[in-house]
Amino acid sequence: MSLGREKVSFLGAPTPLEYLSTMSQKLGIHLYIKRDDLLPLGAGGNKLRKLEYLLADAKAQGATVLLTTGGAQTNHGRLTAAVAAKFGMKCVIACLDEYPGEISANILLDRIMGAEVVLKKDDGRDEDVQLRELFAEVTARYEAQGEKVYFIPMGGSNVVGVPGYYDCAVELTRQAEELQLGNARVVCTVGSLGTYMGLYTGLRCENSPLSLTGIAILPQNDEHIMAYWKDIKETFDLPFDAERKDFHIETGYMREGYNLPDARVRDAIYDMARSEAILLDPCYTGKCFAGLEDMVQEGKIAQGETVILLHTGGFPGLYTKHHRVEFEKELLDGVTIL
Ligand SMILES: Cc1ncc(COP(=O)(O)O)c(C=O)c1O
Repeated sequence: MSLGREKVSFLGAPTPLEYLSTMSQKLGIHLYIKRDDLLPLGAGGNKLRKLEYLLADAKAQGATVLLTTGGAQTNHGRLTAAVAAKFGMKCVIACLDEYPGEISANILLDRIMGAEVVLKKDDGRDEDVQLRELFAEVTARYEAQGEKVYFIPMGGSNVVGVPGYYDCAVELTRQAEELQLGNARVVCTVGSLGTYMGLYTGLRCENSPLSLTGIAILPQNDEHIMAYWKDIKETFDLPFDAERKDFHIETGYMREGYNLPDARVRDAIYDMARSEAILLDPCYTGKCFAGLEDMVQEGKIAQGETVILLHTGGFPGLYTKHHRVEFEKELLDGVTIL
């Protein structure tokens, strides 16, 4: 029922599993949504589940500062800032990225919650080298003030965070059973892979009847997938193994590239918002849902199938400048200025 790791519990009740009647009718499937966007703290989202375990590990090591990374508008950074604020720690979000020209969306929320944001422009050298230098510099600065820094990798996607989505797999299996959803297919967004891997591990360990399909929003590397899996299998001493073919991750719906504005994704966002009043985001969940809709169109998801879309949060992404300007072009005609 769990991977036996310590966590700091701050998530409360299970997130709702809701039936989307209008969208189900439109697509010809039975569509449910698991509302991890409604997780408490810092406007919600998937990273909070991983952070319950990462925080416990940080506290066990006596850390006073949570240092993490990602793109400048990282949702994971925002949620790390939220957890740090709630539990009396400092937070630094250090990114190899440019200043987007304004304090908006996640950066605004990071700063409101008291996190420091460090943005370093890519100087063309190896990215890993630049990031290591950046983390070392930030760590040294905080350590000089007597702080103890705990590093959380991009997306919280290491083995420490994996039990977070294991817990979600257990929760979801129980909810699906209550609603008699049989062998429904869970669909989740795949970015840094932690959510998918946690769910995969949980569903298999628990012999859940639910299957799992990931929709990649950025390129995935087979070697990385297998190395991550090996790490999980060994760390938690799992009694079974998996091969690459066991991980169902669709890579045909990445569109133009990571976090780039895309008209098809905006259409999917309008579709969900205008049918179900649920807000998806342009980088992750909107792209995932656009992929889900396309899979239905292409017959990869059969008519009449029962599908559970995992809503992993991310709505502040709607307010990032480069997405907002594209939305504005399409939506301004519906603003009547008298
Ligand atoms: C809103 C949202 N959904 C999905 C994901 C992808 O999750 P993972 O990185 O665990 O694959 C992220 C990651 O940043 C996210 O912010």
